[in-house]
Order: sequence, then C-alpha cells, then structure tokens
Amino acid sequence: MKRNILITGGAGFIGSHVVRLFVNKYPDYHIVNLDKLTYAGNLANLKDIEDKPNYTFVKADIVDIDKMREIFREYDINGVIHLAAESHVDRSIKDPFTFARTNVMGTLSLLQAAKEYWETLPEKFEGKLFYHISTDEVYGALELTHPEGVPAPFTTKASSEDDMAYGTEFFLETTKYNPHSPYSASKASSDHFVRAYHDTYGMPTLVTNCSNNYGPYQFPEKLIPLFINNIRQGKPLPVYGKGENVRDWLFVEDHARAIDLIFHKGKVGDTYNIGGFNEWKNIDLIKVIIKTVDRLLGNPEGQSLSLITYVTDRLGHDMRYAIDSRKLQSELGWEPSLQFEEGIEKTVRWYLDHQDWMDNITSGDYERYYVEMYKIR
Ligand code: NAD
Ligand code: TYD
Repeated sequence: MKRNILITGGAGFIGSHVVRLFVNKYPDYHIVNLDKLTYAGNLANLKDIEDKPNYTFVKADIVDIDKMREIFREYDINGVIHLAAESHVDRSIKDPFTFARTNVMGTLSLLQAAKEYWETLPEKFEGKLFYHISTDEVYGALELTHPEGVPAPFTTKASSEDDMAYGTEFFLETTKYNPHSPYSASKASSDHFVRAYHDTYGMPTLVTNCSNNYGPYQFPEKLIPLFINNIRQGKPLPVYGKGENVRDWLFVEDHARAIDLIFHKGKVGDTYNIGGFNEWKNIDLIKVIIKTVDRLLGNPEGQSLSLITYVTDRLGHDMRYAIDSRKLQSELGWEPSLQFEEGIEKTVRWYLDHQDWMDNITSGDYERYYVEMYKIR
C-alpha cells in the first residue's frame, strides 16, 4: 500500500520539521501538508522542500469537515500526523474560544473525516494510523520541591550524571490529566476525543505528549525566539513573575525523529511521553540565552543582562513541567541526539543568521498584538 500521509499544521514550528523529515526521508510516500496558515503558519518554513515531487500543500481549516472529507478522498489518505493547533498559552488566556474551536472541534472533524473515509475502504482501518501530537501541559503542574535541583533519578542513556531535576515527581503516561490553562484544557479535550475514537470505533490512533520544544522556525511569541530577537534589538526581556518556573526543553529535530519512530513502530492505541530530562528554571535558561547571543554578536559578556525586566506573572502560570520518557526510550530505543548547550548554540546561530525570516513575521500585525498582550497582564 502506498503511504499517503496527511500532516496537519505543517507550516508551523514543529510541523515544518516533521514535513521536512518525512519528505526527504521517504521519497515513496506522498506527504500532504494541510494548514490554515494562521499567524503561526508560514510557508517560508518549507522553502527548501516545496518543489519536491512527493509533497503537496493544501490550505484548509481543520474545522471544515466537508473539506476534510474531500481531502481524505482526493489524496486517499491512509495515515495522519495531526499537529495543527492553536499553541500559545498567553493567547489562550486572552481568547479561549479560538482554542476550543481549532483544538477540540478541529480535531473532532479530522477524526470523523478519517473514520468515515477509512470505513468505506475494503480493508477499512487496517494499515491506517491517526497519530495525534499533544503536550505535557495536559498533565497539569508539578511542585518545585528542590529549588536548587537534585540529580535526576534516572540512569538511561538520555540522561547523564549531571542531569538535575527540580522535584522528585515526573509526568508519566499514566499521570491523571489536570490541565489548568485554556490551551492545555483544549489539548486535553482533543486527546480524550482521539482515545474515544479508538475505544468506541476501533480507530487505529496513537497519542504522544511532548515537553517544550525549541529550535529554528519557532514563532517569536514563545520564550526562546522572542528573547533572542529582543536581545538582538536591545529590547526588554519580559520575565514572568520571579522567573522561577521550570520547563523541560527538547530540541525540535529530536521531537521530529521521535514522531517518525513512533509513527512507524509505536503500538496502536498507546501513549508515549517525549522529553529529554532537561529541566531549566526560566531565569537560568534566560541567562544562558543572553550569554550565547552576546558572545555570537561579539558583545561584552553580560551586556544584555540589563535587559531582564520582571513583569506581572502569567495568570495561572504552571510552576513545573517534567517528562519521564523512559517508556519511549526502553520500548522503541529513542534518545535525544543533542546536549542542551549544543542545541541552544545551534538555535541562537540559526535565528541570528535568519534575521530576514524573523523581521518578516515580527512587523505589522504581530508587533501590534505584542504591545496589546502586555496591557492585559
Ligand atoms: P505552531 O503554533 O507553531 O503551529 C501550528 C500550525 O497549525 C500553524 O502552521 C497554523 O497555521 C496551523 N493551524 C492552526 N489552526 C489551524 C486550523 N484551524 N486548521 C489548519 N491549520 C491550523 O505550533 P507548534 O509549536 O508547531 O505545535 C504543533 C503541535 O505540537 C501542537 O498541536 C502543539 O499543541 C503541540 N506541541 C507543541 C509543543 C511546543 O513546545 N511548541 C510541545 C508539545 C506539543
Ligand atoms: P512559552 O515559550 O510561552 O511556553 P509554555 O508556556 O508553553 O511553557 O513559555 C515558557 C516559559 O517562559 C513559561 O514559564 C512562561 C515564560 N515566559 C516568560 O517568562 N516571558 C515571556 O515573554 C514568555 C513568552 C514566556
């Protein structure tokens, strides 16, 4: 059976890395990238592969179920990797309805269109997969029980003796969902719908929950690209609250490799957590970014530390996320390829070398939106 794979949200940050990987690695597959091209979608992210014969772009809204039905029929879709979503917590606080619309209703439309099309085929669900990309944020927030960090309690290849954790608890695949933000509530709801289609109709589905990603092509409303760009422009670096919240960071290409592995080898109906045991307190991470950007720009060390500006905290700001990905490591042999320092260096270099990409998306509407955001906090 020829693989015709629908990747949704392929013009966004993670989606563009997944599309690039699949188009280049699997010339025999037909990759259909479906994206609405919201503010976060940018076809410039895929310039290098847009003319490949095994690649098609379709501009569509996942909420439009008739269009989804048409796409499944037209391209004889037999695999889905679903990344399209509204993805920024701050925006979800301002406009929760858009998140419910896209993340919940959009996922439901896509599930229903897949089910209807696959049920018309002689082999029905056989050889098909609906793979839903989710986040660790659905599990809620962990306590910051060790503010100075303790060695991570793992001895897998992914973690070294130096790995530190900021608490003794981690998110497991079995951790009860407890989302706090409108973003994570909408993602949790979509995860439940995906599992409901598996449990009720026998649809071959799979869900993965990944930690915070960083790397090239991330929209500069998220911490790392925003701060790199602000340092370059000498603008303030807005640190929410005391900067003590902890996030677990994974290089985006390692996430894309995990998606490839799980799409091909993951157990249908199952859930895998994806993360590299790489927890950072925001303020410590920000200092690493400042140091790296200053060094690469040839600024005196510490010059941009004065840009740090503590601002009112995000509403309902989750304290700590930390993923336990030992299941993925032991069952499928995945491990992150980059140490964090290498990943950050690569990322900072990329943004400094692609200032035109950044300038194109930070002018006009985005600039106005950004100023507006700071009024509501
Ligand atoms: P992103 O915001 O960069 O990209 C989202 C893409 O989806 C954009 O191209 C956008 O145009 C498209 N889109 C939005 N609404 C759509 C609609 N109604 N119809 C069709 N396309 C639509 O997001 P990202 O950071 O690349 O995240 C991708 C997925 O991974 C999301 O599902 C997100 O929840 C999940 N995730 C993200 C992270 C992270 O750190 N960024 C971590 C774990 C999981
Ligand atoms: P973000 O990149 O928005 O990802 P998420 O909220 O999904 O984890 O934020 C990462 C962390 O950085 C989070 O704790 C909020 C904080 N943050 C700031 O302190 N200042 C900022 O301007 C942004 C965007 C985030």
